[in-house]
Amino acid sequence: MRGAVATLTLNRPKALNALSPELMDELVAAIARCDADESIRVLILTGGPKAFAAGADIKAMSQSTPMKMLTSEIIAKWDRVRDCRKPIIAAVSGYALGGGCELAMMCDIIIASDTAKFGQPEITIGVIPGAGGTQRLTRAIGPYRAMELILTGDMISAQEAASYGLVSRVYPADELMAAAQAMAEKIAARPPLAVRMAKDAVRYAAETTVREGLEIEKRNFYLLFDTYDQKEGMAAFAEKRKPEFRGE
Ligand code: CAA
Repeated sequence: MRGAVATLTLNRPKALNALSPELMDELVAAIARCDADESIRVLILTGGPKAFAAGADIKAMSQSTPMKMLTSEIIAKWDRVRDCRKPIIAAVSGYALGGGCELAMMCDIIIASDTAKFGQPEITIGVIPGAGGTQRLTRAIGPYRAMELILTGDMISAQEAASYGLVSRVYPADELMAAAQAMAEKIAARPPLAVRMAKDAVRYAAETTVREGLEIEKRNFYLLFDTYDQKEGMAAFAEKRKPEFRGE
């Protein structure tokens, strides 16, 4: 913590910060602590140089079932990031893929280093985005670009993400954290109640008509865990081979 700014760093570099249930539990708890701490006004969420986060942990969920996912609230818990009343700046270097891109989009501002890569590659492992990607990315960059990214699974660079409006600023990698800190301190110096109300209002505008879509997205995400192609896609990823999808 520096000044009124708390920095939370995803630190599971061996798995490119894959968002396991444990990591997400820790993150959600840390955000809740910051939210309750009067001395903190702004949060920065960051990862490592190679990855902000390469998605939900594929290995941890590959054998899951729709009912297990529903009852463990595996993805529903992530919504608590969105519930934080204080602004969160995502400072992204390296991969922000799948759940990693979705986690960045749960934050309020996304800034990136010129090494960042964004994408929703879930289609390549037999599923779809399940933590907001179909809704938030569509709102952020428009339906046609979002559709292209979600259906192809392709990645975009930080510069492309900035030109699409997903990222607000791009910095050289070694300047990213200083820039994030400076932006956070600027916001921390604004009147906190106004900051809170402003965040609330902007979020309200962005999310009221999205809610229903998020429910449908989650349900469809869970349902895909009943398919052969999900098992095959995730197994192939773990075994480092090309998946053979059957469309069933
Ligand atoms: N889950 C679990 N482990 C992951 C992971 C993930 N999402 N991403 C990377 N890892 C692991 C790899 O398995 C590997 O572990 P081992 O060393 O034990 O084999 C380690 O991290 C390093 O990864 P790579 O060797 O693959 O590194 P690379 O530089 O060759 O490739 C990459 C980097 C292109 C990001 C590649 O790792 C990749 O494609 N990752 C998966 C991306 C993805 O599909 N994300 C979506 C996940 S599903 C999701 O997020 C659902 C949702 O919407 C909620």
